[in-house]
Amino acid sequence: MHDTKAALLRELEERRARSHEMIGVLDDDALHRQFDPIMSPLVWDVGHIGNFEEIWLLRRLGGHAPHDVRYDELYNPFDNPRWVRGDLPLLDRAAASAYAADVRAEALDLLSRLDLDPADPLLRDGYVIRMVAQHEAQHQETMLQALDLAPGIGAYALAARPLRPRARTVDDTERITIGGGPFALGTDDTAAAYDNERPRHRVELAGFRIDRFPVTNRRYGRFVAEGGYRRRELWSDDGWAWRQQVDHEAPQGWIPEADGSWSVRRFGWRRPLDPAEPVMHVSWFEAEAFARFEGGRLPTEAEWEKAATWGPDAKRPRRYPWGDAPPTPDRANLDQRGWGPAPVGSYPAGASAYGVEQLIGDVYEWTASRFLPYPGYRTFPYPEYSEVFFDDPEFRVLRGASWATSPSVARSTFRNWDYRKRRQIMSGIRLAWDLR
Ligand code: AVJ
Ligand code: FE
Repeated sequence: MHDTKAALLRELEERRARSHEMIGVLDDDALHRQFDPIMSPLVWDVGHIGNFEEIWLLRRLGGHAPHDVRYDELYNPFDNPRWVRGDLPLLDRAAASAYAADVRAEALDLLSRLDLDPADPLLRDGYVIRMVAQHEAQHQETMLQALDLAPGIGAYALAARPLRPRARTVDDTERITIGGGPFALGTDDTAAAYDNERPRHRVELAGFRIDRFPVTNRRYGRFVAEGGYRRRELWSDDGWAWRQQVDHEAPQGWIPEADGSWSVRRFGWRRPLDPAEPVMHVSWFEAEAFARFEGGRLPTEAEWEKAATWGPDAKRPRRYPWGDAPPTPDRANLDQRGWGPAPVGSYPAGASAYGVEQLIGDVYEWTASRFLPYPGYRTFPYPEYSEVFFDDPEFRVLRGASWATSPSVARSTFRNWDYRKRRQIMSGIRLAWDLR
């Protein structure tokens, strides 16, 4: 984790190259239109990425004057919730891109002259540079969620890259026992981790079992076929209220075929649903009902993290399920490489010490846990990343990372969160089971 400044600047540049790659295949309408009130028009993300970098690198580090104070308002996510962003006087594609590029040029110039002063917590180990790179990466995943809700953005078929072949045939119902006892939850890392992942602290858990793999379309398809969406007894009161409001009968993107099979629509293309792939685009309420259908439950985030970072003989947690080495293409399906989740069993090299697979990559996994601060939590460097979200009882934590997540964001302590009703995120399920 002690990258040189040059490596950090390369990370910034690689992220920007990906942004260009992503939006370069889209026409002006696709960039300016708001596809859905729960997502931003993509030009908002472009301007916001530039504004975030301006605030943290140019102004906080460099003391520069604002480019234009109106941008701070337009691109502030709290002043402008997603549903109003389509009506804002946003910079158009050319202007937003030019703004982000100007900020970047100034930032590279500034950083070339700046030392990573270990006495400054923003600069120590390059934290703030990595934070800006992670921020752009997180918005890239958000932009993909918006595009996935947009019918007819067929350009994205061009970007699809073939997945690696299925490694082996597996039993998708296999469970792994995690022994009871203490482990270390969270991290003390200050080079890359967000404030909500700290501090590392001891947690005592009872033993439990957990699925070796994320829940597949095959398993979820049984729930659908056996009337899961109509069986009141499988849903909590809140879940049933949501179910009646939205009228969904399958995950986002599933299309029923005349012969009773399912197809799936993603990014404007359509193909038969692969039963071996992890189910994706389900809300927390659907995950909860599915768990009741199978007689299991959602893991707490502590259980999830123990399965990912700990092991029968562990003395300290691993940074990733497979160890401390950074992700590689044979360990995890990340970084938009597969353009969708990979069949379960595809990543034996990514297994945790307990043997749990595909924890990082493919789909984020819903947990039973509310988004709350760890004991000893301290806000750093700004309350709007985590702190302001802790009080809302509608949020649930998702763990892991999806096929669309950048390796710079993916790690076993990373905590994602969203409303219980949301399913445009690359969300899936992994069940836990009480020991009997
Ligand atoms: C961690 C995904 C919930 O998108 O709201 C982006 C990430 N924070 N800009 C979000 C984030 C600030 C955040 N999530
Ligand atoms: Fe943001």
